[in-house]
Amino acid sequence: MNITVVGTGYVGLVTGACFAEMGNSVTCVDTDETKVHQLKEGIIPIYEPGLEAIVRENSKAGRLLFNTSLSQAMQQSALYFIAVGTPPGENGSADLTYVLEVAREIGRNLQDYAVIVNKSTVPVGTAEKVRDAIRAELNARGADIAFDVVSNPEFLKEGAAIDDFMRPDRIIIGVDSDRAREQMAELYHSFSRNHDKLMFMGIRDAELTKYAANAMLATKISFMNEVANLAERMGVDIENVRKGIGSDSRIGYSFIYPGCGYGGSCFPKDVQALIHMGDEFSFDTSILRAVEERNQAQKQRLFEKLQQRFGEDMSGRTIGVWGLAFKPGTDDMREASSVALINRLVVAGAVVRAYDPVAMDEARRWFAPELFERGQIVFCDHQYDALADADAMVLVTEWKPFRQPDFNAMKKLLKHPIIIDGRNQYDPYALKAQGFDYAGIGRDL
Ligand code: UGA
Repeated sequence: MNITVVGTGYVGLVTGACFAEMGNSVTCVDTDETKVHQLKEGIIPIYEPGLEAIVRENSKAGRLLFNTSLSQAMQQSALYFIAVGTPPGENGSADLTYVLEVAREIGRNLQDYAVIVNKSTVPVGTAEKVRDAIRAELNARGADIAFDVVSNPEFLKEGAAIDDFMRPDRIIIGVDSDRAREQMAELYHSFSRNHDKLMFMGIRDAELTKYAANAMLATKISFMNEVANLAERMGVDIENVRKGIGSDSRIGYSFIYPGCGYGGSCFPKDVQALIHMGDEFSFDTSILRAVEERNQAQKQRLFEKLQQRFGEDMSGRTIGVWGLAFKPGTDDMREASSVALINRLVVAGAVVRAYDPVAMDEARRWFAPELFERGQIVFCDHQYDALADADAMVLVTEWKPFRQPDFNAMKKLLKHPIIIDGRNQYDPYALKAQGFDYAGIGRDL
C-alpha cells in the first residue's frame, strides 16, 4: 500500500518505518528540513533500539522516503497517518493546532478517496474536528471527494517501540465506514496473522481507549506509590507487599513497581488531558486528579529523603545521581524525575554529579547552562565518577549497569555511605549489613 505519515517524531517515525518493513511504500513528511535531511542520510534524531537499522534498510530498498512537502507526498497516497505532536495546551488540554493544520493541508490537496488516520493521541471528538477541517477545505475549492477519518491510537513503549509495533497486544481501530474498515484490515493483516489482534469499534471509543489505557497504568503506579509511602511509616517492606498482591492474577505484577514518580511524554500529559476532558463534560475525574497529585508529590520523595539526612541547607554537599532519562532504554528527559530532584538540590545549594549511559547530551538542555559553568551540575563520563567525594548516591533511573554495582568501590568513593534508591533496585538488608544507610521507596527499613 502507499502510505503517507505526517510527523516524524517518535510515533510517526516508528509507524512509517514498520509499515515500510512490511513491504509498503511509505513517505514520511515533516516540516523540519534539517530533520528530513538527516533522516534521508539515515541519521535518527531519537534513541530507539532497532529503529536506525529499519530506517536505513527500508530507505535503501526505496520503500521509505522522507519529504518536507505533504502536497508532494500526497500525489501517490490514499492512506494518511497524522502523527504530529499534541503538546499540552492551556489547562492540560491537548493542543490540536498541528493536527488540524495537517487536516487542512490534506483537504487542500486531496484528489481521490482517502483514509485519514489519527495516530496522535488526541481528545475524544478530534476525528470529527479533523473531518470538518478537511471538508471545509474541499468545499472551499468546490471539490466533491469522499474520504474517511479513522482513529488508530498507538500503544508503543519507548525503548521497545519496534517490538510493540510488530507484535502488538491489540490494534485498536475506530471507524465508521465499511470502506475504511476494509482498508485498515488489509493494512494490518500482516501484524495480526496468528491471532486476530484487530479490534474495530466506534471512533470515539477508540479515542477514549488510548487515554483510558495510559490513565489506568498511571493509576496503578500512583496507587503503589501511595501504599509505599504508607509502608515506610509502618515499617513495612513494600517489596513483599508488591509480590503479595501481584500474585493475584486479577491485579498482576506489571506496573505496580513503586518509584520516584512516572514521567515521559505520555502518562503525565494524557492523565492531565483526560482530567481536562472530564471538566469539559462537567465530570469531576477525582481519581485521575489524585493520580496526578500523587505523582507530583512522588517526584519530591528523593529530595525529601536527602533532606531528612542533610537538612534544608545543602550547600557544601555533593550528591551523586545515577540515571537521568525518565526510564531506562531511552534518552527522553520529558517529565523525568531526575529534573525535579536536581532542580531542588541546586536550589538547596548542593553540587550534583550525575551520570546516565545514554541521556546526558539530551539532559544538558534541561538545565540552565550557568549551572554547568558554575560547576553546580557536573555530568560525569563514568557512573563511579559521579560518586567521587559525594555525600550520598541517588539512583533515579534503573539502567542495567546500575543493578549490580561494586558496593565496596561505592563505599570507598562516597564521603558518607548513603544510598537513596528511587527504584528499589537493591537489597536493603544486604546493604545495611555492609554498613550503608539505605532508603528505598516504601522500604525505609
Ligand atoms: C507509555 C505506555 O506504556 C505505552 O503503552 C503508550 O503507548 C505510551 O506511554 C504512549 O502513550 O505513547 P512510555 O511512556 O514509553 O509508554 O513508558 P512506560 O514504560 O509506560 O513508563 C512510564 C513511566 O512509568 C516511567 O517513568 C516508568 O519509570 C514509570 N513506571 C512504570 C513506574 O514508576 N512503575 C511501574 O511499575 C512501571
